Amino acid sequence: MIRNIPKNPVLAAIDKDNLDEADSIVSAIKASVGGIKLGKEFFTSFGPQGILKIAGTDTPLFLDLKFHDIPNTVAGAVRSASKVIAPNMMTIHASGGPAMIRAAADAAAEFDHSPWILAVTVLTSMDDADLAATGVNSTASDQVLRLADLAQKNGADGVICSPLEIKTLRAEFGPDFKLVVPGIRPAGSDHGDQKRVKTPAEALMDGADYLVIGRPISALANPAASVTEILESLG
Ligand code: C5P
Repeated sequence: MIRNIPKNPVLAAIDKDNLDEADSIVSAIKASVGGIKLGKEFFTSFGPQGILKIAGTDTPLFLDLKFHDIPNTVAGAVRSASKVIAPNMMTIHASGGPAMIRAAADAAAEFDHSPWILAVTVLTSMDDADLAATGVNSTASDQVLRLADLAQKNGADGVICSPLEIKTLRAEFGPDFKLVVPGIRPAGSDHGDQKRVKTPAEALMDGADYLVIGRPISALANPAASVTEILESLG
């Protein structure tokens, strides 16, 4: 199973619990997006077979299951996903610690087409008070930097970050560390529940590698036309 590296930075998040609907959106956009992102909602409903049904064995794929467990279990999950689904990139939680991050990176490296291991730092739904409630007594932005550093030192290929963190992380961790960014809203589109947003062009200018875009593509009547507009806005 060989999935090419995404050719453009737009990764469409397909957050649907209806297989036919997801399939028809992916069919309409797969030639024009860089790749698609499937996560817990889709995976829990339809499993690896559902993923292979809509992404085939060649559509560039970001598998967003955010593994967080003991190192041996996370390594096993990375191996299983690499064998059965072969995504281009997949997520773990950096807060699982150095041994867990290293185990995920080592497991990915066993494969010819190693998926990139991307670490989630602090969930964008958490603020300083939420962190304090979990016993973390630093600000969310300090904690993001600490966990991104931990991720890089232990072999992760990059992190998921909010649009507001791109510049700082790019400056701190260099050009090769992948920054994959949700919270992207084309100019004039509905923000939904995303609060800290940037446009696709702004995020790329700041130094993002990939843009995760969900509802501005999948919730509209013509997802293919939405992708075309987004790509045009990138010039
Ligand atoms: O529809 P929307 O563009 O907001 O979708 C963004 C996608 O990125 C969703 O799949 C969401 O789960 C994911 N995501 C996010 N914020 C994070 C991590 C992931 O919005 N911090």
